[in-house]
Amino acid sequence: MNILIVLAHPERASFNGGLVDVAIETLCGAGHKVEIDDLYGEGFDPVERASWYGERVDEGYFATLTEQRAHYDAGLLPADVQREIARLDWADLVIFQFPLWWHAQPAILKGWFDRVLIYGGLYSGRMRYDHGYFRGRKAVCSVTAASPEQAFMPFGRAGNMVEWLWPIHSSLYYVGYEVLAPQVSYGVQGGGISYQDEGKFRAQLEVMKNRWASRLIDLDNECPIPFTGWDDWDEAGVLRQSHPMRWRL
Ligand SMILES: Cc1cc2nc3c(=O)[nH]c(=O)nc-3n(C[C@H](O)[C@H](O)[C@H](O)COP(=O)(O)O)c2cc1C
Repeated sequence: MNILIVLAHPERASFNGGLVDVAIETLCGAGHKVEIDDLYGEGFDPVERASWYGERVDEGYFATLTEQRAHYDAGLLPADVQREIARLDWADLVIFQFPLWWHAQPAILKGWFDRVLIYGGLYSGRMRYDHGYFRGRKAVCSVTAASPEQAFMPFGRAGNMVEWLWPIHSSLYYVGYEVLAPQVSYGVQGGGISYQDEGKFRAQLEVMKNRWASRLIDLDNECPIPFTGWDDWDEAGVLRQSHPMRWRL
């Protein structure tokens, strides 16, 4: 398989960077081709703005979707966006490696979605969800969080990881990816908030790296998270009454 690892962390020597190294070693060892997309390292600019678009459809009003579509069609997207799209076209599997920041992905990765997943090119009214551009390809998020796993349990103070990851998971599905269950490394403390002694903490980091390595070996055989698709929705985009998920209503 061709595997792209998108890393969204400002420090390559961090634990997140270490998980990338584990993935490179494991996946290359298993015969896969791996490419790293280090967003901070490459200086990716995550802010979508009018100045990216040189041949404006409308000079007087910047309509992002209109300009994305027109520049995609004309082959005039910014060079960094074209490079990112080429990487995605190459990849059978995309791994997103990032720390949980304010209950979400870091801004550089959110902005990568804003700028790279181009309307009119990588999605459109008809080309979405199970009819999406990337259908048949897979994506997985490998996320680290400082709070311990118990804090993410029901009624825990850190909230619900399923909800925090819903926006990124549903965006990946929106453009057609089969989304695998996330790999979450909990309790990756640092910078003052610590939940256990240093020795135990270091050992726990190694356990989490090993867990990721053993999962990666068999990732291709995993079933994706089930999402509903076009056949499940009525004309208004609402789940049909006959769908088994409507059992509560
Ligand atoms: C801006 C910022 C926001 C953060 N928000 C959260 C959060 O919402 N929940 C959480 O558990 N940890 C949060 N953290 C802690 C990071 O998730 C943690 O430091 C990181 O996963 C550790 O991995 P690293 O050593 O590779 O940086 C935050 C850290 C930063 C810098």
